[in-house]
Amino acid sequence: MRTETPKTIFLKDYKPTPYNIDNVRLTFRLHDTETLVRAEMKLKPNKASKAKKALLELDGEKIKLLSVAINGELLAPTEYVVSEHKLTIKTVPQKAFTLAIESQCDPKANTELSGLYMSNGVFCTQCEAEGFRRITYFYDRPDVLAKYHVRIEAPKAMPVLLSNGNPAGNGSISGTDRHFAEWDDPHPKPSYLFALVAGDLGSVHSDIITSEGRHVHLGIYVEKGKDNRCAWAMESLKASMRWDEKVFKRAYDLDVFNIVAVSDFNMGAMENKGLNIFNDKYILALPQTATDTDFELIEAIIAHEYFHNWTGNRITCRDWFQLCLKEGLTVFRDQEFTSDMRSRDVKRIDDVQDVRARQFPEDFGPLQHPPRPNAYIEINNFYTSTVYEKGAEVCRMIQTLIGAAAFAKGMQLYFKRHDGDAATVEDFVKCFEDASKKKLKQFFRWYEQAGTPQVAVSGKYDAKKKTYMLNLTQSVKRLKGQPAKLPLHMPLGLGLIGPDGRELHSGMIELTKAKQSFTFKNILAKPVLSLNRGFSAPIVLKHRATERDLLLQLAYDSDSFNRWEAGQELAKKLILERYHGKHGNQWPQKVAEFAEALRHPLTDTSLDEAYRAKLLDVPPYEELMAAIGKEIDPEKLYSAHEEFTAKLGEGLHDTLHEVYTSTESHAAYKPDAASSGKRALHYAALSLATRAQATWVEEALRQESQHATNMTAEYSALRISTRLRGALPEELSKRFFDAHNSDPLLIDKWFAAQALAPSESAADRVRTLMSHKDFTVKTPNRVYALLRNFIGGNFIGFHAPDGAGYKLAADVIIAIDAINPQVASRLATGFRTWRMFDAGNRKKAEAELQRILATKPLSPDVFEIISRTLKA
Ligand code: PHE
Ligand code: ZN
Repeated sequence: MRTETPKTIFLKDYKPTPYNIDNVRLTFRLHDTETLVRAEMKLKPNKASKAKKALLELDGEKIKLLSVAINGELLAPTEYVVSEHKLTIKTVPQKAFTLAIESQCDPKANTELSGLYMSNGVFCTQCEAEGFRRITYFYDRPDVLAKYHVRIEAPKAMPVLLSNGNPAGNGSISGTDRHFAEWDDPHPKPSYLFALVAGDLGSVHSDIITSEGRHVHLGIYVEKGKDNRCAWAMESLKASMRWDEKVFKRAYDLDVFNIVAVSDFNMGAMENKGLNIFNDKYILALPQTATDTDFELIEAIIAHEYFHNWTGNRITCRDWFQLCLKEGLTVFRDQEFTSDMRSRDVKRIDDVQDVRARQFPEDFGPLQHPPRPNAYIEINNFYTSTVYEKGAEVCRMIQTLIGAAAFAKGMQLYFKRHDGDAATVEDFVKCFEDASKKKLKQFFRWYEQAGTPQVAVSGKYDAKKKTYMLNLTQSVKRLKGQPAKLPLHMPLGLGLIGPDGRELHSGMIELTKAKQSFTFKNILAKPVLSLNRGFSAPIVLKHRATERDLLLQLAYDSDSFNRWEAGQELAKKLILERYHGKHGNQWPQKVAEFAEALRHPLTDTSLDEAYRAKLLDVPPYEELMAAIGKEIDPEKLYSAHEEFTAKLGEGLHDTLHEVYTSTESHAAYKPDAASSGKRALHYAALSLATRAQATWVEEALRQESQHATNMTAEYSALRISTRLRGALPEELSKRFFDAHNSDPLLIDKWFAAQALAPSESAADRVRTLMSHKDFTVKTPNRVYALLRNFIGGNFIGFHAPDGAGYKLAADVIIAIDAINPQVASRLATGFRTWRMFDAGNRKKAEAELQRILATKPLSPDVFEIISRTLKA
């Protein structure tokens, strides 16, 4: 906890360590409160370091040092200094030597869930980014790669003892009720990839033979009694392994691959070498316990962590500023995997929606940073949508710019050139320059410059010359004190659509200048422009398309993304007209016309059902807020959004009913893309009809809930019902809780549904739920279910003009910071848009932010987020 202002770390200060650690032997004597750790390391001076006869300074935190020995000789206490964050040894041999350190830690007291901790009686670890230093003294940074051998000693009541690499023996410890297991990992790795698990766990097993002929044993370990929920995870793992062999030519490189699911975990999952550790909500799934969204997420996250084996583990990061090197690339890879497993068109829309809802607000506001930041206080604050999702968009743009073949070649070059390295983003991009012979120097600015570019568009058709001229101007908003922003190199997919809907031209242009014109010849009729097709660049287009043009795109655009986008643009326009009070009497008529235009694609059975469901999405608040920009009146925006949705539902009423009944299925639940797409459409129709308070929905929802054979049906009914007046919402909520209150993941869903139900007084409801017997601030999943959903997903509840939402959030952030700063800090990012609101809201938010900042002690995590949020 902080007493003075936390220190900022800069990219430009990177220096290699003066010593290397090549080998580590770790012995754990596990104990709830006094775990003994012995680390025997082989060190030698680092040739890459310029430091001469440097001190040996190792990271260490919240551990008790018991002894230090060099080359077998115990050091006297005068020969080293232990501080809160470091162990410093004054003189060490200037040639290869061994260092043995004994220390002790307290897993039970570890509520931060970083380092070695206990979850539900199971010992587990989380070392990324800087958790290993809470286990032993070490160079806890990603550029120190060592081979690990691990011995775990634990009570026999904990039969499962796991670590990284391959098994290397096990047995009883004679004269005790304890046993041991040893693990050996032949691949050098950074400390953040270390993992250990010990406990009494259930498991499922399978195996696979890799493309290189290696026989790999696969294991998934979960809480006892839940092993019947692992089949989907196992299937997804095998699919991921096969896909990486086929698409990226990457095969697995150990004899075992284990996954452990734990119920207390700050993040989604972790790619530790050969021993992935997961938040159990991304492993456990049965049709009766997990929704379609859960199934898809499980498949994607298993793939993501597995893909890290090459992009992250075999090739790791030189320092934490390079985080997007592994995360952006691995997200790109998991997106491609999902696109191949499911519908590519729908996946692209999902990903763009995610970028706009989470990355754009980050990029517009005070928490803005480039995919590769150049300064941080707490690295845990940089596991952001910008690093992950914008990082993935940047990889995708490289692929678009140089073409799929050169991109594939560049990837193989990257694997060949950098296997075993702690690499930089420069190393990565160089591979694509070399593979394609295309200069990516200007392109590299995407990694270094924060902010979402805006591209202003105007087009001019010359009927005589049959030419179409396109004028583009790019700019990035500058925040206070920032240097001038430079033009970026961006690929823009483009189509020109004729008045009859036929394509007159299609291709890709490269925008590199601040202002640039493009002329297209032989364009036989005045075209409608379809730009940034496939969302080829993560930008905001400023284009005054007419309603007629958008309707034409909605009907005919051959690019499935822009076809969907046209509908979104129209919807946004209509909501904003209402919000700004510019709608006049024509507005209901205009919404009805929009509904009419949607009817056709909505019932077009040549389009897949998941895509048709997407057409029913109403633009989310984040996008409307971005369009309004400032002085947002939350009540007005809420009611404009509500009115639009209700009117749209009314306009489509008959179609919704027809779609709803025609997508009913009595077949056994299957999680595949086609079946889940059908359910997506089914519930999208029911949801929109509910927003219009259609007469049939109440009975439909009751039936859905009573006769549900799967969680998608049950949870959809529960969520949708919160939009109805009357007693039904309470009835469904009670039924859900009574049926599922012994299952933590389903209790989370029950809390989530209530956190998300929009109401100006939602803060009161959430506060009351915090005293529910099943609520606890100690389990991140529970906190996220109730509070992250409230803060990030209940627009009118969180931004209620009376300030009750802000006050609740601040109370919770302060309380949780004392237990788990990473979780508190994630909640704190919910304030990032506070300056966009009107003066009344701003004042209330600012007061709460100041109150958090004045709290002592405050973690560096929350300090960094709140101070940045207040500053810009
Ligand atoms: N590296 C993890 C991933 O796959 C995320 C993570 C970061 C997990 C930090 C735990 C701690 O994205
Ligand atoms: Zn990752």
